[in-house]
Amino acid sequence: MSTERTLVLVKPDGVARNLTGAILARVEAKGYTLVQLEMVNATRQVLEAHYEEHVGKPFYEPLVDFMLSGPMVAAIFEGDSVIAGFRSLAGATDPTVAAPGTIRGDFGRDWGLKVQQNLVHGSDSVLSAEREIGIWFD
Ligand code: PPS
Repeated sequence: MSTERTLVLVKPDGVARNLTGAILARVEAKGYTLVQLEMVNATRQVLEAHYEEHVGKPFYEPLVDFMLSGPMVAAIFEGDSVIAGFRSLAGATDPTVAAPGTIRGDFGRDWGLKVQQNLVHGSDSVLSAEREIGIWFD
């Protein structure tokens, strides 16, 4: 167990559906501490840095376009094992199969669109969290 920080993004679908409060409330209710919060309109440059490991994958361009489609909320949460803990709260990448009780399982589904709208992003490791927090917050 170790105190960590993670980057959480409420993606454009979460903000557009007025789910920001419900999503952040789950993270706070779990016991993690909100240390920074900002509403942002991402730039392509920020997203290219954020998703650099996925360049060339079939979902890369649709994903970047989706993340440019509207405002998002970027947050830093802190707590022991918060990186794994948030990903557990978020649920599986595909909202259709994400377990009920998770953010994606309760609020997400396949909308028949080319891009998967899965409401949230959470860093996947300590290194990723440090890198991503540096991208989204000065
Ligand atoms: S991989 O290839 O296993 O590393 O990919 P994965 O970890 O599953 O997903 C990496 C990020 O891409 C998003 N993703 C998608 N977005 C839109 N449409 C499709 N089809 C799609 N497939 C994967 C996924 O949500 C991850 O983004 P973040 O922001 O981390 O949630």
